[in-house]
Amino acid sequence: MSQTHFGFETVDEREKAQRVRGVFDSVASKYDIMNDLMSAGLHRAWKAYTVAVAKLQPGDKVLDIAGGTGDLSRAFAKKVGATGVVFHTDINEAMLRVGRDRLLDEGLVLPTTLCDAEKLPFPTGSLDLVSVAFGLRNMTHKDVALAEMNRVLRPGGRLLVLEFSKVAAPLKKVYDWYSFKVLPQVGQLVAGDADSYRYLAESIRMHPDQETLKAMMKTAGFGHVDVHNLTGGVTALHVGIKC
Ligand SMILES: C[S@@+](CC[C@H](N)C(=O)[O-])C[C@H]1O[C@@H](n2cnc3c(N)ncnc32)[C@H](O)[C@@H]1O
Repeated sequence: MSQTHFGFETVDEREKAQRVRGVFDSVASKYDIMNDLMSAGLHRAWKAYTVAVAKLQPGDKVLDIAGGTGDLSRAFAKKVGATGVVFHTDINEAMLRVGRDRLLDEGLVLPTTLCDAEKLPFPTGSLDLVSVAFGLRNMTHKDVALAEMNRVLRPGGRLLVLEFSKVAAPLKKVYDWYSFKVLPQVGQLVAGDADSYRYLAESIRMHPDQETLKAMMKTAGFGHVDVHNLTGGVTALHVGIKC
């Protein structure tokens, strides 16, 4: 079996998928509060920007991959209206359940599907927009997942990848201190789980930087890719057009 990374560790590919599952099983119930705490609410601004860039129209068909607790799915659903559809999907049942319950509590009934981004159960060319927020980093074969995202889009359709990225040099020292010293302690205090938040910090450092991800998206078939750096590169929104 091939080897890959789980944070800074080198592991078998199958072990990575199991350990990623363990992380999200562990954090699912505290995921939303931790997101607000550790990003000081910034994840809301990054997602709002993503929704603005999506420029969805009523009737659009959207796939939210690694949708977790449903922030993007909910915002997209309001844009596409009753004539459109947003598929809220994730590989992790615990995350998907929290998200589905939250959406139902808010009166939104979306098709919720358990699925692996590397084997999407959607027909070729069937979607107007695909999104993946803070999910690509956790995938074992990112190239396979990106090719699948390209396959399910219609020609002219767009992929939005919102993900942690490489910070600007002046921010690096304080960002490293925050990620490796503060984050695991907050994770321990609030979610009783320092390891999952240590994995978060490590997985961000192992994730392809802005230019590398842009090149990977082009290899996966996106004819045009734009990169939007957010908060000094703490995150980046990559927008790929299938053309
Ligand atoms: C950090 S959460 C992001 C949730 C949500 N998109 C958000 O922005 O709040 C990452 C999600 O990626 C999912 N994930 C990891 N590997 C995946 C895969 N191969 N296919 C689909 N989802 C995956 C995890 O289960 C988890 O719910």
